[in-house]
Amino acid sequence: MRHRRARQDSRGCCVSRKRPEAVAARGAAERLAATPRPPESALKDWISSASVRVKPSLTDFDLSGNAGEFSGVQWFVFGHADEFMSHPALRHLDMPQRNAVSAARLAHFLDDMTLTEHRIVNVAAQVIAENRLRAYLPERLAIDALKLYTDEGYHAYFTAQASRAIRDRFALPVHDAPNPKIAALEALVAGVPAPRRDLAWFMVGFVGETMITKAIVDTMRATAHTGLLALLQAHLEDEWQHARYFAQLFGLVWPQLGAADKAFFGALLPTIIQAFHTWDEAFHRHLLAQIGLDSAAIERVLAQEGSETRRTAHMRSRCGNTLQVLERSGVFKQAALRTVFVQHGLLERDSARGGRAARAP
Ligand SMILES: [Fe+2]
Ligand SMILES: [Fe+2]
Repeated sequence: MRHRRARQDSRGCCVSRKRPEAVAARGAAERLAATPRPPESALKDWISSASVRVKPSLTDFDLSGNAGEFSGVQWFVFGHADEFMSHPALRHLDMPQRNAVSAARLAHFLDDMTLTEHRIVNVAAQVIAENRLRAYLPERLAIDALKLYTDEGYHAYFTAQASRAIRDRFALPVHDAPNPKIAALEALVAGVPAPRRDLAWFMVGFVGETMITKAIVDTMRATAHTGLLALLQAHLEDEWQHARYFAQLFGLVWPQLGAADKAFFGALLPTIIQAFHTWDEAFHRHLLAQIGLDSAAIERVLAQEGSETRRTAHMRSRCGNTLQVLERSGVFKQAALRTVFVQHGLLERDSARGGRAARAP
């Protein structure tokens, strides 16, 4: 009887002859295994963690307590970190007045946040969700933008409710003047040539979503009201995921951009960071007039708060996370781009290390 010898592969393992279709199937499986798996989305646990899913009680937000309690108790934290409240022109204010000023600023922050959620971040989320960046992102990550879109709608809702409750409690007038930050961001994207506009919205979403956690943390530090803290904490937890999601997307998009796109968007990014920190002088002028400051004192406060030094310091204190992602993605390896960030006061000149995030104050 003829003995049929099995072939041996280079490692000495036996392999048997296969039919051509079996070989082809194995080849396809090997190619599939060799293809890098799309990264796992930062929003993969959204169903069990997003506040819109697990914290419906946030829709019931209200400021309980009587009016005297709210005006006479220090439920805003007045620290040295808050340079506006520490200005000499405001030193004479008593606690109810200080609470009223802080309440107006908090309502302004919350109104700004509500607008930012649906007028800015959700426009970026739409661009991704409609798969308009399909050249750079896998479809699964694009679909996940709808989770973020849903979150932002919920945040806008409970944030607007909190703002209204604060305005009711402190009898604050509605401040419905145009928001200069929203206008600046929309004008910035409108100025980008149409073929690059989807990517510009993506960059705006990336910058906004990697900076918002710091803004929420700063507001939490200045607030002593537990109901409000719970609301901000829920928002913060969602935004940690959003920041991770956008950082992940940026890490996928940036390396795929051509040299011209890298030059264009690398120069656009610092202007986006700047636009996000557009100073609302009209609001603060109105607020200072309301508490009875004379025009000379108002100008002194505005000159200090609106100064380039103060604005740059504020911007730097908020964008550390964004700059870290840019550094990780290799943006600052390009000397020309690093220079643009240095010119905007976002990076320190450091020829030895090739650029380092400017130190926050
Ligand atoms: Fe949000
Ligand atoms: Fe977000």
